[in-house]
Amino acid sequence: MNILREIPELRAWTGRGVHPRVFVPTMGALHEGHLSLIDRARAEAGDQGEVIVSIFVNPTQFAPTEDLSTYPRAWEADCEKCRSRGFDAVFVPPVEVMYRPDASVRILEDRLSRGLCGASRPGHFGGVCTVVAKLFNLVQPDAAVFGEKDFQQLAIIRRMVRDLDFPVTILASPTIREPDGLAMSSRNAYLNPEERAGAVVLSQALGAARKSLDEGERDPHRLSQIVGAVLRESPLGKTDYLAVMHPGTLEPWIGAIHPAEGVLVALAVFFGKTRLIDNLHWTGPSGA
Ligand code: PAJ
Repeated sequence: MNILREIPELRAWTGRGVHPRVFVPTMGALHEGHLSLIDRARAEAGDQGEVIVSIFVNPTQFAPTEDLSTYPRAWEADCEKCRSRGFDAVFVPPVEVMYRPDASVRILEDRLSRGLCGASRPGHFGGVCTVVAKLFNLVQPDAAVFGEKDFQQLAIIRRMVRDLDFPVTILASPTIREPDGLAMSSRNAYLNPEERAGAVVLSQALGAARKSLDEGERDPHRLSQIVGAVLRESPLGKTDYLAVMHPGTLEPWIGAIHPAEGVLVALAVFFGKTRLIDNLHWTGPSGA
């Protein structure tokens, strides 16, 4: 495995001209969710291509009040996990390589970013777009893999690539879960045992939403009530948002849900200071 820290090293690596080059950007503290993205990238790259992973805890996507300083960093363990998976190089830039002290250009997506995590975390998606654009320019991938766990992030990156003509194909990969249903996340490590036990309520609430939709519920308001009732079963969870959105516009569904267009049920719930997100992207009755 090749560890690339500086831009000239990365340029020398990409200059070998191996294609397709498939890229997986991460902030490290790797878990099976990240590793599934790497597996997807490996499958996409095939024997002839290459997979590059980046590990960079991006300061510009954290607000001053958020967990940048405590965000889990597990470099040694990450390397061990990476060794067991098929990829060719990891780009781990120090922060000063990514951001000059007087950097003054930032990418702003201002439609899909308005609601959900964009509303709860002002400036977050500007930081995400800026770092992903920089990483795309540095790595110059043919394709990049993102998780559906962060549905809004995936939608915004697709929009950025479309609107700014990045020559990168964006691939979506499904959410990997713990055996009890909790979506894997680096932030799950913050949960104490009681919070961890209660956190299963997110996937249970989304399970209830899926069941209601499968059974024919088409009223966004009633759907939201069903999900809210399950969330209230966990006394430790404090709901940040519960939204029933159109998956294309990320705006609230008004009127009856059309199965052909699908629906996004998105949740953010605090357990103590830890904010967990999860979503259901429903695209028609299961098994239909
Ligand atoms: P990070 O939270 O480390 O996630 C990296 C990628 O892993 C994202 O595409 C995310 O959607 C995906 N992912 C996380 N948990 C997952 C799970 N349980 N199942 C499947 N995929 C999962 O997202 C970021 O980092 C950053 O915002 C980044 C894009 C790297 C920009 O800094």
